[in-house]
Amino acid sequence: MKIILRILIIISLSYGQVDYSSQVQPIFNQDCTSCHGGSGGLTLNSYEELMKGGNSGAVIVAGNATSSLLVQRLDGSVTPKMPQGGSLPDSTIDLIKQWINEGAIEAVSITEEELLPLLFEVDGNFPNPFNPLTRIVISSRTKVEGRAMITTASGTAVFDFGTVQMHPGTNSLVWNGEDNTGRRLASGPYLFIFKNSDLILSHRMILLK
Ligand code: HEC
Repeated sequence: MKIILRILIIISLSYGQVDYSSQVQPIFNQDCTSCHGGSGGLTLNSYEELMKGGNSGAVIVAGNATSSLLVQRLDGSVTPKMPQGGSLPDSTIDLIKQWINEGAIEAVSITEEELLPLLFEVDGNFPNPFNPLTRIVISSRTKVEGRAMITTASGTAVFDFGTVQMHPGTNSLVWNGEDNTGRRLASGPYLFIFKNSDLILSHRMILLK
């Protein structure tokens, strides 16, 4: 029996937009939270704390990276430069700047639902509900490249597969219920999302512990 779950959703994101939880937060976890981990002043453990700011107030000005204190402390235009005692590669600073210039949003926002031509479809994920692994099966009639990721039901990205090529025929991706840092996620519904500049395809899955 072939169960076809076909919820195709257009997301207000274009391909290439920086995602906070899978791309920005990991930088803070690696280079900043040893000092900015909640012992006072600026805390960089989460989006909410980042946006709350530090002793000088807000460190992010959404849409304006050059006016954001966080960027000024990373590029050294305001001293002392961060991370204290070191520096981030330019490419990493550029990624943070891009995220701020794109509006410094936390979550992928789902704005519109629409059925798209059946160029490719998610046949399902097996098993579902799953624990610990599930295989997401996608049939495609054509070669398509896009970004594959997992989000919570409300659209916050939790795992990024990166750029993925779908080939004509049956394709599959395996997800182990962990985020990009290897942390096991809570039980509940998650969305598999595949997107490129033309479309977004999404499929709902249940992780059960
Ligand atoms: C070794 C410890 C250490 C690390 C690592 C570190 N910081 Fe800091 N940071 C500090 C201290 C101490 C202050 C407060 C004193 C000051 O402003 O210089 C500070 C202040 C800041 C401020 C100004 C906050 C305010 O409200 O004035 C920002 C923004 C900042 N850090 C960002 C970062 C970022 C982003 C990283 C990671 C890329 C980072 N820091 C890594 C120690 C650190």
